Amino acid sequence: MAADGFHLDFAAGMPLADWRTTMENYITIALPKGKLFKRSVDLLAKVGYSAEGVSENSRKLVIANEETKVRFIITKTVDLPTYIEYGAADIGIIGKDVLLEEQKDVYELLDLGYGKCRLMMAVPEAKKRPELKDYAHLRVATKYPHCAREYFDKLGIQMEIVKLNGSIELGPLIGLSELIVDIVETGTTIKENKLVEVDSIFTSTARLIANPVSFKLKFDRLHKLVKDLRVVLAEEKA
Ligand code: PRP
Repeated sequence: MAADGFHLDFAAGMPLADWRTTMENYITIALPKGKLFKRSVDLLAKVGYSAEGVSENSRKLVIANEETKVRFIITKTVDLPTYIEYGAADIGIIGKDVLLEEQKDVYELLDLGYGKCRLMMAVPEAKKRPELKDYAHLRVATKYPHCAREYFDKLGIQMEIVKLNGSIELGPLIGLSELIVDIVETGTTIKENKLVEVDSIFTSTARLIANPVSFKLKFDRLHKLVKDLRVVLAEEKA
């Protein structure tokens, strides 16, 4: 056991039945690796859910605090809603963009406000066309095929969608696609790759999400957590 009740080897070798039993006594929180990780850890610490010892680069993917009965799991961003939907974690923090793409059965409890970005369509500067419909029947590379399909369907534009898992900006550079649909946060990546935004699809921020059954069974603790987070976020804004 580490300082402050943290037990790093908490789940190692634990039989599934034991994992489920402990699930009932603990609040299990899923945190996504990547851009939302640090801010999420800092925020949770402010409401008493200290994630000391949790690091996104750690090889330990489960960390528990036996005193506060909180357990953290660290997941790949895109998988996080799946862990929540199946109840492997009670709550988690994830971008609205991932929720819209993954379409999982989870409760959205709170807009946390940070991690602001937007999903947009972009094209190489030299290939910009006057109207959106002028891009019809072209190929678009994206990590967000569901959102992209919905967007083009609404516009009544037929497109060929190529699903990639990262480095989307490479698509137009090497002729894999004419366009991309991707997340822009600071704008640096599209600028560096000489792409220009032609339309904004939606904006996204980090959300606190919950498994619907966990939310009912652990209502008191989770309701208090949401209330406390609201207070901290309001104080930070003031
Ligand atoms: C995201 C997104 C862009 C970049 C945008 O990628 O897909 O590539 O961030 O950020 P910016 O506007 O601040 O430059 P991520 O870093 O998640 O990596 P990936 O390309 O491997 O998915």
